[in-house]
Amino acid sequence: MRETPQGPSTRSVGFQPPAIGDEEIEAVAATLRSGWLTTGPRAAELESRFAEYLQARHALAVASGTAALHLSLVALGAGTGDEVITTPITWPATANVIVHSGATPVFADVREGDLNIDPAHAASLVTERTKAVVPVHLAGQPADLDPLWALGLPVVEDAAHALESSYRGRKLGALSEATCFSLYATKNVAAGEGGVITTDSDELAAAVRDLRVTRRGDGSRYDVPVPGYKANLPDVLAAIALVQLDKLERHRAARARQFAAYDEAVAELDGIDPLERDPRDSHAYHLYVVRIEPARAGATRDEYQLALGREGIATSIHFLPVHRLTWYRERFPGQPRLPVAERAGEEVLSLPLSPAHADEDIAAVIAALQRLHARFTRRH
Ligand SMILES: Cc1ncc(COP(=O)(O)O)c(C=O)c1O
Repeated sequence: MRETPQGPSTRSVGFQPPAIGDEEIEAVAATLRSGWLTTGPRAAELESRFAEYLQARHALAVASGTAALHLSLVALGAGTGDEVITTPITWPATANVIVHSGATPVFADVREGDLNIDPAHAASLVTERTKAVVPVHLAGQPADLDPLWALGLPVVEDAAHALESSYRGRKLGALSEATCFSLYATKNVAAGEGGVITTDSDELAAAVRDLRVTRRGDGSRYDVPVPGYKANLPDVLAAIALVQLDKLERHRAARARQFAAYDEAVAELDGIDPLERDPRDSHAYHLYVVRIEPARAGATRDEYQLALGREGIATSIHFLPVHRLTWYRERFPGQPRLPVAERAGEEVLSLPLSPAHADEDIAAVIAALQRLHARFTRRH
């Protein structure tokens, strides 16, 4: 046992270490031996597996979740002069790709309970220039989709956190115009990098296929029907994702157990509250996010994060409100305040969560949180 100036700490706990085993290593080796360095049969297999799992007509493997969102917006025709409504409580990529498409991001505030986009505020921001709405299923809790669909605009779901989520009993994946997943290193199916777009729309799938990569086509002479990006997924990464898909249920069960342990612990810690989960939906258990309310928890989120770090426990923040980050603040100086998102940005803290963690790791996080809470609340 190691002593730190702040007290006892038995182990250091990473935030979201990847759960990669010998199967993934062997799958990569087999891919390299197969000669497919770039996109090939494994990417195609990953697409079929995603389409089947998500009950979608089409699944298109791409280079990242960012590319999935970007290509979906471009395929829908978003461009200069258009507006796209999204949430500020997201990874900045969600807003960046709106900018890259040429359109203007318009930020709606979020709901207090789950920090997903507030549909009523989104509705109030619709103009004749609104091209699409991009909700994010934060931490794995589906956004409230019905009132967004009711706006009559294309919806591109940012489902980077929501691979296993269901909305009112229906699997996410083919419910909106496009649903975008990420295979980034921390995600529930982690390939390192990668993304998948799912859709039931033949037109959208065809448009994304044209945009995703500059293809040579069938003949020896090639042509450019559409100027493509370079956003295809290499087979080496698809091979990792395929193994991770096989482990999906086992990994989900591990994360569900970690959620239950955290739920039980934070129920006893005044001022440390998990984001709400809607019992009508199925949660992907991607991130365990708590809000730390300083008046009750005795210290700010930043103080808790620092103190946990000193005890060897890595945490993260999901998310700082995008509209307050430098480029967005400077580019849109007239952006109205979004009070719920701005307060949440000060209070959210994500705790370690990964199938790679042992129960003892999660127990160490809980013990540290309890110790800190006792210390911080005594101080007041
Ligand atoms: C909510 C959200 N959207 C989009 C992305 C972008 O995904 P990627 O890192 O695969 O480009 C992330 C990623 O990490 C994310 O958390």
